[in-house]
Amino acid sequence: MENTIERIYADAQAALAEAADADGVNDISIQYLGRKGYITQFLRSISSLPAEERPQAGKRANEIKGLLETEIKVTLERLARTTRKPADRIDVSLPGRAPEKGSLHPITQITNRICSIFAQMGFDVVEGPEVETDYYNFEALNIPKNHPARDMQDTFYVSDSVVLRTHTSPTQPRVMEKRQPPVRIIAPGKVYRCDSDLTHTPMFHQVEGLLVDHKVSFADLKGTLTAFVHQMFDDQTTLRFRPSFFPFTEPSAEVDIRCVICRGKGCRVCSQTGWLEVLGSGMVHPAVFENVGYDTSRYTGFAFGMGVERIAMLKYGIDDIRRYFDNDYRFLCQF
Ligand code: PHE
Repeated sequence: MENTIERIYADAQAALAEAADADGVNDISIQYLGRKGYITQFLRSISSLPAEERPQAGKRANEIKGLLETEIKVTLERLARTTRKPADRIDVSLPGRAPEKGSLHPITQITNRICSIFAQMGFDVVEGPEVETDYYNFEALNIPKNHPARDMQDTFYVSDSVVLRTHTSPTQPRVMEKRQPPVRIIAPGKVYRCDSDLTHTPMFHQVEGLLVDHKVSFADLKGTLTAFVHQMFDDQTTLRFRPSFFPFTEPSAEVDIRCVICRGKGCRVCSQTGWLEVLGSGMVHPAVFENVGYDTSRYTGFAFGMGVERIAMLKYGIDDIRRYFDNDYRFLCQF
């Protein structure tokens, strides 16, 4: 009789080893341990055994029952780990995952905003090369070799006569060589200077502006930039024109706006001055007109250049320029 229970156990183990999936294992469980299963029937039949065999047979049959239950559990776990039906992998009742919406980089957004304000005033958007010749970056802009003004801009030289442009101003002579006045252009783009700290990165963005026509005056420059600042920030923002120097403009002025953070009371952002410098500007120097063949007795013009990061920092209240280029997803998601 013991032989019978051992054989049932061996058969059950062999069947378990063959089982391909959970359904197969459950069938085996019913076949052996179910109400009419082999082991259950064996346990029931013990009463009909000779009295001296009963204790031993009962003990062994219960042992095997316990062992088989454990082996079934282990087999089910193994199969759950190794085999998966497609229906387990795709739960078609789950709601779909919406694709995340992307957005433009804050610097691109501000550049677009600046360009659209000037486009409304009739300026064309143009672009120039980032790898620029010494001629357009310096010479044509009245900055001859060995001019001290070259030191103001820490230039990356590609070769003796080729540089990474240090400003967007080379678009001025490039456009004027090709077009006759009236000229009204705005030129956004990347510029490069060997400089890096809290407020400087080796690559940053500028937007250049140039307007040339008959009888263009400094008043036109002031009016245009005032209209721009009022649209970019708000129409309560006051401007200040501070005398300055650029070799390619005369007279030159730097433009400050009333601190947008403290409204002029003085704070950390404006270094307690109440003013923030936002751009350089001036009346196009006659030497620049001569370089491109414009008649200086007929035409005058103004030009300006602004740092996009600077404006974006003020607009968004960000005090470390490097945030814009860290590519930190959490930072970028805010715009
Ligand atoms: N190119 C100058 C700079 O990068 C800014 C500027 C542009 C000044 C046009 C005057 C006219 O600092």
